[in-house]
Amino acid sequence: MTGAEYCGGAKGVDTNGYPVETTGNAVLDTLEHRSSTRAFARDDNDRPVAVTDEQRAAILHAASRAPSAGAMMMYSIVSIREHATLDRLADLCDHQPMIAKAPWALIFVVDYAKWIDLFEHVGCFEPEFVERTGKAPRRAPGLGDFAIAAQDAVIAAQNAVVAAEALGLGSCYIGDIVENAEEVAELLDLPPYTMPLSMLIVGTPRKERPAIAHPVVNLVHEERYCRADAATMDAQVAEMDAMFRPHAREVGERVMDIYTRKHTSPFMAEMSRSMEWWFKNWLGK
Ligand SMILES: Cc1cc2nc3c(=O)[nH]c(=O)nc-3n(C[C@H](O)[C@H](O)[C@H](O)COP(=O)(O)O)c2cc1C
Repeated sequence: MTGAEYCGGAKGVDTNGYPVETTGNAVLDTLEHRSSTRAFARDDNDRPVAVTDEQRAAILHAASRAPSAGAMMMYSIVSIREHATLDRLADLCDHQPMIAKAPWALIFVVDYAKWIDLFEHVGCFEPEFVERTGKAPRRAPGLGDFAIAAQDAVIAAQNAVVAAEALGLGSCYIGDIVENAEEVAELLDLPPYTMPLSMLIVGTPRKERPAIAHPVVNLVHEERYCRADAATMDAQVAEMDAMFRPHAREVGERVMDIYTRKHTSPFMAEMSRSMEWWFKNWLGK
């Protein structure tokens, strides 16, 4: 079953009444009808309906087919099905119980440890190798390595999202995986030169999930970046408030909601604290 078939009930509009076009192109329709899944179907024993071996293999294969800088695959995927681990992650990721109720989680770890190990394994750090090649001796990964490795990891995660959708499954990113760095590093046995940047929960959606609209005003810039003027910001605010209805009562309510609930939240402060820890870990400090 494709995502488009699964979401056939969208009936041409999303939750905000925006037209959702079905093109007949399987990939475009899967992208168009995807939405995040936060509630998963349960079986007769009140356990989350499992993702089958075939589905897991297909999703992991799709992830591995993602573009990768130099085909270096600078990420690792930690696949988690044990309930105790999901429970712990639910707690560590800003107390989101839906994580414990998912049958499967995937953590996309930005990973340079595997390359450091390989360099060592084939002798790149040996003095004779350094002398013969004239290359610099051993160094830890830097921010340049991070820039490409992080893209590898996130692109692979998104391939998994699309593959899950195409199989009739649902998924949701969990950005809070970068919080509580010390505990997460211990829970997952993460070594230096790694960072768990992306997490997905995956499973059978409990009910149909119509796509929600995404704001697009001030998104695409022609040729040069163009900072929004007051008129553009008014249009942005109006678009977001329209999407936020029936909650939005005053102009700018959606922006204020983001400011109070996200920008100034304790979870964002914890994320920033933890990211400093993860960057030190990445740099081998
Ligand atoms: C980097 C990232 C982190 C996210 N973290 C969470 C999260 O921790 N909890 C959650 O419920 N949704 C999370 N989401 C899902 C977004 O809230 C969701 O994508 C957004 O509201 C748009 O809805 P849609 O995916 O259904 O189109 C995350 C999405 C991204 C891309």
